[in-house]
Amino acid sequence: MLIEGRHHRTIWPLGEGGQGPVRIIDQTRLPHDLAFVDLEGLEDAAVAIETMQVRGAPLIGATAAYGVALAVRADPSDAALEAALARLLRTRPTAVNLRWALERVGNALRPLPPERRGARAFALAAAVCDEDVAICRAIGDHGLALIAAIAAEKPKGEPVNVLTHCNAGWLATIDWGTATAPVYRAQEAGIPVHVWVDETRPRSQGAALTAYELAEQGVPHTVIVDNLGGHLMQHGRVDLCIVGTDRTTRTGDVCNKIGTYLKALAAHDNGVPFYVALPSTTIDWRIGDGVREIPIEERSGDEVSWVAGRTDDGRIERVRVTPATSPALNYGFDVTPARLVTGLVTERGVAPASAEGLAGLFPEAA
Ligand code: MRU
Repeated sequence: MLIEGRHHRTIWPLGEGGQGPVRIIDQTRLPHDLAFVDLEGLEDAAVAIETMQVRGAPLIGATAAYGVALAVRADPSDAALEAALARLLRTRPTAVNLRWALERVGNALRPLPPERRGARAFALAAAVCDEDVAICRAIGDHGLALIAAIAAEKPKGEPVNVLTHCNAGWLATIDWGTATAPVYRAQEAGIPVHVWVDETRPRSQGAALTAYELAEQGVPHTVIVDNLGGHLMQHGRVDLCIVGTDRTTRTGDVCNKIGTYLKALAAHDNGVPFYVALPSTTIDWRIGDGVREIPIEERSGDEVSWVAGRTDDGRIERVRVTPATSPALNYGFDVTPARLVTGLVTERGVAPASAEGLAGLFPEAA
């Protein structure tokens, strides 16, 4: 999608044939600075995921794939390959795309003679990225049909109001995004659309990243505090919710950024459709009970106690917003049970959030 009018992806290799570093957009600097970081080796990739320079389930998986490529380029031995896979798997616990990407790359590289692993790993990482772009675009097509159906029921010219949480936009993927892909496709199709952007404390991925990418793309949007959604829904100002997910069980339970569950409850109470947009790479076919089986990341309480922002004279400053002695608790994700989800928007169509619904679309995986 666009930054300053130029098309970008979130990650790409520099140089021909896997010889150079891998470039990322440093998402910890957005929306105030557009800065790039070059990943030169395994540790750079692992730290980029841990520090959330890259984040969002599909992009975490793609960065991990490139991390393996950088590692085996430096040392293609069996021991180095296994160490790289293990190091990257430890970076973040919740988004299952990480495990998916590492298993895919690891399984493809192990049978190869070491001297062929480097080039193959870069090709695999590129394939993970290209496939994600195609998948997100297909999610956009299926989600567009949902938005178009709502638009057809509204007075001509009145925008469809979409509420989203966190950043499941193109910055969380390689391009297009998951939850935002239907919005961008609607914009292309000339359907008026407006997005309510949950700020998504504590790290503010909505306020910092979703608002940034919608602004760059020229999509009308309004940033709201995390607690406003229920009120807006009660007053008929949300036509549908579309969120992303970091891991969806084979039964349709959805794990996403903390606060998603409360939005789903409010949507359910107000009869607002609540859709989850996801690539099939985010489905964990091995588990059925999201609340009990999905590992939930717990992050530093400092993310709750401190906020960062830009001052009028351009400095980035951190300020404390809680008493110095008050502890803070910071779980990164929650689980929305399948019964609260209207539908799962995948690259193969919209499925009911159920084991049967997902198995119907992905029989080979189920
Ligand atoms: O902690 P983050 O920023 O990695 O969390 C991201 C989210 O929760 C996204 O909504 C999710 O990964 C879906 S990405 C298309």
